[in-house]
Amino acid sequence: MSIDRNEAVSRFTRHFGAVPTIGVRAPGRVNVIGEHTDYNHGFVLPMAIERETVILARPIGTPAIRAYAANFDRAAEAPLDRFERHPGEPWLDYIVGVARELALLDRPLHGAEIMILGDVPVGCGLSSSASLEMAALCLFERLGGFTIEGPEAPRLGQRVENNFLGLKTGIMDQFISRMGQAGHVLFLDCRSFDYDLVPASFDGACFVVANTGVSRGLTASKYNERVAQCREAVEGMRSTLGKEGTHLRDFTMEDLEAARHALADAAYRRARHVVTEDARTRAACDALRAGDAVELGRLMNASDESLRRDYEVTCPELDAMTEIARGLTGCFGSRMTGAGFGGCTVSLAGLTDLEPFMAALAREYQARTGLQCDVIVSGAADGAGAFPL
Ligand code: GLA
Repeated sequence: MSIDRNEAVSRFTRHFGAVPTIGVRAPGRVNVIGEHTDYNHGFVLPMAIERETVILARPIGTPAIRAYAANFDRAAEAPLDRFERHPGEPWLDYIVGVARELALLDRPLHGAEIMILGDVPVGCGLSSSASLEMAALCLFERLGGFTIEGPEAPRLGQRVENNFLGLKTGIMDQFISRMGQAGHVLFLDCRSFDYDLVPASFDGACFVVANTGVSRGLTASKYNERVAQCREAVEGMRSTLGKEGTHLRDFTMEDLEAARHALADAAYRRARHVVTEDARTRAACDALRAGDAVELGRLMNASDESLRRDYEVTCPELDAMTEIARGLTGCFGSRMTGAGFGGCTVSLAGLTDLEPFMAALAREYQARTGLQCDVIVSGAADGAGAFPL
């Protein structure tokens, strides 16, 4: 719980002239390892963080959402019987997109005055969008008196991204934002949706998230390009090897080497990242279960190297930050996290050296790049839900 509830209620009341009766929230996330594997039906290991999106609401008699985005001080209205994009108010599209998916499922949609307030940094790879989608879903569930069960809830959020917003993202962000549990990291099989909540406890180490302060333009198109290159590798291996399979999950490193001559170099390297990253993610989950910070750190470093060299989704600032982190006392490992092209890194750092680690990371990053960086230590938070007002 990172947003002050009382202050949020006063703000809602000031804006709408009436008190809210519904409160819902959903967290952002950091991915420990398993990057760009979800849309390849692979494995991921994210953790919900103590940063959240909160929505306060008051039902109204008209089928519309009257929304106030407190962070941006913007107000806008959207009907619940016609679902259109709002280019001037992109934040509203997440609410409209969730409503649209619910309408396609014939779920009842009720109107409300709502205020959105969040402290997940936007556009930094910590899934502010997924947290807004999952908070919006909780809102419509409360207003309509229904529940979307199990993995159907995050899948609905994924469809908002894929079908309404045009980003070919996987299931990870919405899944952890909905299903996360305090004190746990979530190991997810993105094909079967089987998952395991693994205690996020190490003797003497914790995860440190640091924001490079850069977000590259064109992230969406480069992301979709990676998705297409993975599909190209699958097609190439299917036709060359005559092996059945729909996603990179279905292929091994031996398959990839056998088909290498028939693949474009980029498709080969993207696939090599994904296949090896799946193996690292499973090994990382074992290391986490065993409380082996040294092994987890080693796997995080190897993941980062693969994302830099083969998947090509890092950037000079991310590379500078992970390199600095690895050189500091008490760092077990460091990697970029999220889609990449800017955004955040996650490091596993020893508790005894935590304060000097955080200070030195910020100082040296600024000296090298001229950029300020926010450094956050977060425990593992609970997934989305309602809270009493
Ligand atoms: C973004 C997407 C996720 C996932 C990551 C990369 O966060 O929303 O589905 O693909 O990038 O691992």
